[in-house]
Amino acid sequence: MAHAQAGTSEGSLDKGKVVITGGAGFIGSHTAIELCAAGYTPVVVDNFGNSDRRMLERVYELTGQRFPLHEIDCRDRAALRRMFEQEGPCFGVIHFAAHKAVGASVAQALDYYDNNLGSLISLLQVMNEVGLQNLVYSSSATVYGQSDELPVTEQTQVRPGESPYGRTKQVCESILIDTAASKVPVKAVLLRYFNPVGAHPSGRIGELPLGKPENLVPYITQTAIGLREELTVFGNDYPTRDGTCTRDYVHVVDLARAHIAALAWLDNSPENAQRGSFHEIFNVGTGAATSVLEAIQAFEKASGTKLRYRFGPRRPGDIVESYANVDKARKVLGWKAELTIFDAMRDAWKWQVGLKNDPLR
Ligand code: UD1
Repeated sequence: MAHAQAGTSEGSLDKGKVVITGGAGFIGSHTAIELCAAGYTPVVVDNFGNSDRRMLERVYELTGQRFPLHEIDCRDRAALRRMFEQEGPCFGVIHFAAHKAVGASVAQALDYYDNNLGSLISLLQVMNEVGLQNLVYSSSATVYGQSDELPVTEQTQVRPGESPYGRTKQVCESILIDTAASKVPVKAVLLRYFNPVGAHPSGRIGELPLGKPENLVPYITQTAIGLREELTVFGNDYPTRDGTCTRDYVHVVDLARAHIAALAWLDNSPENAQRGSFHEIFNVGTGAATSVLEAIQAFEKASGTKLRYRFGPRRPGDIVESYANVDKARKVLGWKAELTIFDAMRDAWKWQVGLKNDPLR
């Protein structure tokens, strides 16, 4: 029953299989592309609860690789076990599968805890059963809340979550940290994403928000294409350079590449080969703060369109400023963001324009 972990070596063409849960989603689909480019074979696990099958068809087109897909809910341990048995040796797992809407998490708290915690727990149990240790986990800068210390480092104090969604990310981090310190062997890399934005430069894959978007960039592109009347800028009286909140917007392609860097580090670092169980946390951002008004300007320049927006009241629970210190990822993983907010806006716009002709849902 137990599988040996697939051995890989630097520079080899076939670096082995990597299971990506939530592989049909926004970040997962971009990561599948980067995995192929880096010589890994993605094995996608998705329950299509908040993603579209056709997104994967497009990933197949873009990569020219028809990698395996398993329609599985990660809470289904028996199905996960069958999937690993069927696939044979794998190098590791990247775990994206989770609910992610802050607003919905308030009304559906129990469902959020069940899905986000349940999936991770069942995955860790099955990985242990099949003898697989390498795991990259999709965490979030939401764990820092509004920090007194900017930019935030991995040592910055984690604050109590503002929403059930945020709290599931914190509990999942604790599950991983405690598991790595227990008898269950796991090598866990926790990536704390800042604000993932943009789309694939081909315009073929991108974010598919369910209904009205909560996040800034899809709201901007949907307004510009005419799906929304106008953007409301939530507050312009904050103590920032132009009165609007700032965030660290990281292009989804850069973010996807951070996962490849994490796998390569798990694979190649002689130090990691010696270590037993461990967890390691990395911030994944650009290191730069962009205000809402600057994001709008970047969009207008990148798209050549004018955006309709007005200033509205502050959004309850919004943090004022957030940006990452990314020294650790640069030094340890050799990863840094290469793309800008302009690139992200250009690619997000290309994706939105493409959706007009071929809406995926
Ligand atoms: C939100 C979530 C966070 C999650 C992250 C994922 C909240 C409170 N937090 O963070 O938990 O991890 O998304 O990317 O929802 N804005 C507007 N008008 C809009 C939408 C947004 O002005 O219509 C502003 C916001 O006030 C904020 C910035 O744009 O200053 C970014 O907002 P958003 O994309 O929702 O991200 P976060 O608030 O950082």
